[in-house]
Amino acid sequence: MTSRRPIIIDTDPGHDDAFALLLAFASPLELEVLGITTVAGNVPLDKTTNNALRLRDLAAAPGVPVYRGCERPLVNRLVTAEYVHGESGLDGPDLPPPVGGVEKAHAVDYLVETLRSAAEPVTVCILGPMTNVAMAIIKAPDITESVAEFVIMGGSFHAGGNITPTAEFNIFVDPHAAHVVFESGVPTTVMPLDVTHQAQATPSRIAPLRSLGTAVGTAVTEMLQFVERFDVAHGFEGFPLHDPTVIAYLIDPSMFELRRGRVRVALESGLVHGMTVADWIMRDGASPNAAVALQIDADRYFGLIAERFAAF
Ligand code: RIB
Ligand code: CA
Repeated sequence: MTSRRPIIIDTDPGHDDAFALLLAFASPLELEVLGITTVAGNVPLDKTTNNALRLRDLAAAPGVPVYRGCERPLVNRLVTAEYVHGESGLDGPDLPPPVGGVEKAHAVDYLVETLRSAAEPVTVCILGPMTNVAMAIIKAPDITESVAEFVIMGGSFHAGGNITPTAEFNIFVDPHAAHVVFESGVPTTVMPLDVTHQAQATPSRIAPLRSLGTAVGTAVTEMLQFVERFDVAHGFEGFPLHDPTVIAYLIDPSMFELRRGRVRVALESGLVHGMTVADWIMRDGASPNAAVALQIDADRYFGLIAERFAAF
């Protein structure tokens, strides 16, 4: 049996964040979810936090603490995505109000204190704008020694942008935070649009979820029915399941093909703002700062999700 990897999930739920949280909660043999930190992104912080609490209830994981994080990016004004995720950020299913509440500590302080006191290095999964993690690094640079790995959903290298022609949403919302994280020196793995666009939730791939007949199966099916509208209207065959790639990578990295390179974020204003660029050849003496996933076995990916969601 593999040892359980301690993880913290930083998230802006968000329909695909919901799938990622459920997949993590459904994988206790591989992952120990120490805590959830919420950030403004898909929708404002109050709503991402309320959604994280409601998803904790859906997964019946009351013991996992939730911490509210940053309300806005480091520099830019907040840009949200209600046009994809709806006003609540989790439109579709009728999830009840949360039973429990958030912890008193701010997410940034939780990250700093938990990483400093951890018995072993902790993997930090980043599923939204990287504001919380960047703030923690700025406040306490020493914590980079206590992070086993950053596993990030974000960026795009050969797939174009999804909020501008060049930028992926998580990076675009807070490119300055992304720069801080990519320059932190922490071992980093990136799940960009290049792989998530290969993992579109087509009707055949989600049929097993639809047939679960459970509260989780019904909720996630209703989530997909709502959230696919935007992407299907733009030529996709289904909603690209972005965030769960981060969790799937931790459970079974063999379903991905990765390439190491030097990842940089364009901070210039204008057309390239928030664009991610990977230097694969590094002729200027640069060293790689990330492993970037460029291929995914989508059938194994959806098979894992269906197998684990059946356990709820
Ligand atoms: O670009 C996709 C990413 O932006 C996903 O994490 C989605 O939840 C949104 O946060
Ligand atoms: Ca997200």
